[in-house]
Amino acid sequence: MNSNTRIACVMVGLPARGKTYIAQKVCRYLQWLSVSTKVFNVGNYRRKLHGAHQMHSFFDPHNTEGEIARKEAALEALKDMIKWFLEEDGTVAIFDATNSTRERRCMIIDYCKKYDVQVMFIESICQDESLILQNIMDVKLSSPDYKDMDPEKAAEDFRARISHYEEAYETLNEMKNESDYTYAKLINVGSQVMINMIQGYLQSRIVYYLMNLHILPRNIFFSRHGESVYNLEGKIGGDSKLSPRGRKYALALPELIKANLGDQPLTVWTSTLKRTIETAKHLQYPKLQWKALDELDAGVCDGMTYEEIEAKYPEDYFNRDEDKFNYRYRGGESYRDVVYRLEPVIMELERQQNILIIGHQAILRCIYGYFQKLSQDDLPYVKIPLHTVIKLTPKAYTCQEERYKIDIDAVDTHRPKPKRPTDVSN
Ligand code: SIN
Repeated sequence: MNSNTRIACVMVGLPARGKTYIAQKVCRYLQWLSVSTKVFNVGNYRRKLHGAHQMHSFFDPHNTEGEIARKEAALEALKDMIKWFLEEDGTVAIFDATNSTRERRCMIIDYCKKYDVQVMFIESICQDESLILQNIMDVKLSSPDYKDMDPEKAAEDFRARISHYEEAYETLNEMKNESDYTYAKLINVGSQVMINMIQGYLQSRIVYYLMNLHILPRNIFFSRHGESVYNLEGKIGGDSKLSPRGRKYALALPELIKANLGDQPLTVWTSTLKRTIETAKHLQYPKLQWKALDELDAGVCDGMTYEEIEAKYPEDYFNRDEDKFNYRYRGGESYRDVVYRLEPVIMELERQQNILIIGHQAILRCIYGYFQKLSQDDLPYVKIPLHTVIKLTPKAYTCQEERYKIDIDAVDTHRPKPKRPTDVSN
């Protein structure tokens, strides 16, 4: 990828159309793939410059003072965005605001052109009244704009705010001087996407990601395989079978999943390794094996214990603890490699509804890290114990998490980050 690529994804749409949700999702996806990405939310700038508790009249297009104040907030955000591109070598900025008039979009294009920033508009159109209402209830009423306000009054004010925006709203329109703009128009997130003038690898990845997003309620379950023979022996990698306790776990798993899901449909994904396939054996759901879900390849260390690795490759052992995300086993993989390998899995996960992934420690860390927004430092150390089911329920901006430990003993394979003195005086 050209390191000078700079893209501003500029959101477009009326309030409560899921723009911030989309902005946050795209940001997380790109950050997980190590693309330097940041969201610039104009509402935050407006609150900082003009206070949080602005009533609907502030957003009335006939209110000249309000109009000036809102433009000031947008310009501040734009300035910071450009500063970030120039000083912090940013690659993708997401400009999260309504940007609902042609005049505003034209101003953004002109501003970005001066700094060689490509603009890609992402418009979210929602024709489903119940989704809009749900968005207002789930997100808007808990926004700092309505803190400590009676929910009914807040909802009424917010609806009046939407009406003001509706009065001035102009959808992206190729007939009205916008035919050469790069854009993706999303209708009812997940049902229809229209694109125009998409260019280059990154823009295409973003569009592909947008095409897979949906907002239907669903659960994602993670479980490591049951305890394996290699786990008992303290060895990494390999393709060993389950231990007797691991087989007990496989037997107990269907009841736990059923208790959680009832009769809802579910698909089970495993790797192509014996221990995950054996763990899924008693689950009566459609199953799919993914090679991409196979455990991180430990290269020459495959089949060794950590003590053996330390004795035979002391330098590698040390280096791995220094930067676990980037350390690549000789002839094998790093966590960073695994993230790239898992990208199609994440795309497909975004498209699907209820999924149970029966996987491996490093693999589940990477997928879990995507949903729970873990940093590259924390991701390789997150605890994913054996004989435990993790249930994630995506919400507006977060993932609700529950963990269920099945009462069957298993070895603990977690190695915490070693504490090393960072300077000689310690
Ligand atoms: C806001 O002030 O909340 C958003 C401003 C806008 O995008 O219109």
